[in-house]
Amino acid sequence: MAQIEWRDEFSLGNAAVDEEHKQLITQINQLYDQLSLPMDVLAIESLLAELQADISAHFALEELLMEQSGFAEYEAHRQDHERLLDEINDLIFQFEEDPEEGRKRLKSTLSDWFGIHFTGFDARLHGQLDQATGRQKAS
Ligand SMILES: [Fe+2]
Ligand SMILES: [Fe+2]
Repeated sequence: MAQIEWRDEFSLGNAAVDEEHKQLITQINQLYDQLSLPMDVLAIESLLAELQADISAHFALEELLMEQSGFAEYEAHRQDHERLLDEINDLIFQFEEDPEEGRKRLKSTLSDWFGIHFTGFDARLHGQLDQATGRQKAS
């Protein structure tokens, strides 16, 4: 069962950021599904590593666009990204140390880990981001 469903109201109006948000939601849902299957440590570690790398690149893009747009909440938003990266590092570390406990913690915190930031800080970026980015796909 999907933990987070994409809805059109989540669109921020920046194609690159919206695409990455959709992709991250898909990855989080895939990870959540994997956590509910019989334990497969390597599969979970691989999905976690991919999520960590992709969300880190996503935060860098958002921070660049916020800087370019002169967004007033930039510093608080950037600090929340740092906090989220610290948390995913801790979740990965805990899973590696103790997969059973780590899996329980991931199942109970994963959707909030992304969802609270996404529906709070990110939602306030709606219509605020500069569209000029080389990563934006032509459509
Ligand atoms: Fe975001
Ligand atoms: Fe963000």
